[in-house]
Amino acid sequence: MSKGYASEVREGDSGDFESSRVLDARGEADEQQVEAALRPKRLADFPGQTRVRDQLDLVLQAAKGRGAAPDHILLSGPPGLGKTTLAMIVAAELERPIRVTSGPAIQHAGDLAAVLSSLDEGEVLFLDEIHRMARAAEEMLYLAMEDFRVDVIVGKGAGATAIPLELPPFTVVGATTRSGLLPAPLRDRFGFTGHLDFYAPEDLALILARSAGLLKVDADAAAIEVIAGRSRGTPRIANRLLRRVRDWAQVHGSGRVDVAATQAALELFDVDELGLDRLDRAVLDALCRRYAGGPVGIATLAVAVGEESDTVETVAEPYLVRQGFIIRTPRGRAASPLAWSHLGLTAPAGTGIPPAQQTLPLDDSGPGRFA
Ligand SMILES: Nc1ncnc2c1ncn2[C@@H]1O[C@H](COP(=O)(O)OP(=O)(O)OP(=O)(O)O)[C@@H](O)[C@H]1O
Ligand SMILES: [Mg+2]
Repeated sequence: MSKGYASEVREGDSGDFESSRVLDARGEADEQQVEAALRPKRLADFPGQTRVRDQLDLVLQAAKGRGAAPDHILLSGPPGLGKTTLAMIVAAELERPIRVTSGPAIQHAGDLAAVLSSLDEGEVLFLDEIHRMARAAEEMLYLAMEDFRVDVIVGKGAGATAIPLELPPFTVVGATTRSGLLPAPLRDRFGFTGHLDFYAPEDLALILARSAGLLKVDADAAAIEVIAGRSRGTPRIANRLLRRVRDWAQVHGSGRVDVAATQAALELFDVDELGLDRLDRAVLDALCRRYAGGPVGIATLAVAVGEESDTVETVAEPYLVRQGFIIRTPRGRAASPLAWSHLGLTAPAGTGIPPAQQTLPLDDSGPGRFA
C-alpha cells in the first residue's frame, strides 16, 4: 500500500518536470544512436575546449611519433560535454582499436582482469564512469597501468596463488563526472588529465551548425544563435534542443529551423531566455520563498520541489551555480541577489552571503563535502 502510494507520488512529481528533461545534460538511453551519429570523429572536427584539444593533440602526436602508447588519459567534467566523444577520438587519432567498458560493469577484480588480459598491444581501453568501479578493481587497475601486469589469482583459500601476467602496453582513457571521487593513487597514474568545461555560445553555434548539416536540417544562423544561448553550455543539450525545434518546424512550421520555430519550441518546452526551465525556476522559488534565500541543504530543496536529490544536484544546480543564481556555502545552498530578481522578488536585507564563502567548487566530493 505504502509502496503503491510512493510510486504514485513519484510518477506525479516527475510529470511536473517532464519538460525539463529537454535540458537534462545526462544522456537518455534512446538518444545513443543519434548521439553517436553526431560525434566528431577527429580532433580537427571537435569545436571548443581548445586548451584540452591542443594538449591532447600534442600528447597523441608525440606518442605516435615515438611509435609508443601515450600516457593514460583522464577526462573529467560535467555530463554531455564530450568525454566519450574525445575517448573515441583518441583511438581514431592513434589509429588503434578501442575497448569500451564502464565502472558499473566492473564489480569484481575478475571482471577487470578478464578485460585487461585480452587487450592487444597499443589498444585503447575506455573506462567510462571510472569513479564507479569496485575498490578491488581500482587497485588492480592502477598496478596494471603502471607496470602493465596483473596478478591473476588461481585457486581459493590457503591454496590460492597469484600468477603474474604480463600485459602489452595499452592506454587507459578514463572518463568521470566526479574526479573528486577517484582515489589519489589511481588519479596519479594518469599522465594527462583533461578537464572539460562548459562551452561558449559561439562554440555551441559551430556544433549546432555541424549537427544541422548531419541531420539534414535547414537552419538559420539566427535560430542557431538562439538555441546556442539556451543550451547551458552543453553540446548534448544543444543537439537535443535542435532536434526539438526541428520537430516543431516540421509539424507546425515551414520545416525550416528559423527564429519563430525556435522560440515556439522553446516556449513549448518551458525553456526561458536564460536557459532555465521549470525545475530550475521551482528550485529558485523554493529557495527564496520557502527558505528565505537559504542556506538550505540539497536534500531539503529536492523534497520542496518534489524531485530526487540527484536530479536537483546534477541537472539543475550546476547551471544555477554557474550562472550565479545559487551560491554553494558550507551550510548549504543560498540564493544570490540574481535569483531574487529573476523571480521578480526583492531580497530581504541581511541575506547576502559573504564573498569568501562563494568559492566551493561543484565537483567537491572529498571528505569535506556538505549536504
Ligand atoms: N565538441 C563537440 N563537438 C560536437 N559535438 C559534441 C562535442 N562535445 C559533445 N558533443 C556531442 O554531445 C553529445 C554528448 O557528448 P558525449 O557523449 O561525448 O558527452 P560525455 O561527456 O561523454 O557525457 P556523459 O558524462 O553523460 O557520458 C554527443 O552527441 C556528441 O556528439
Ligand atoms: Mg560519456
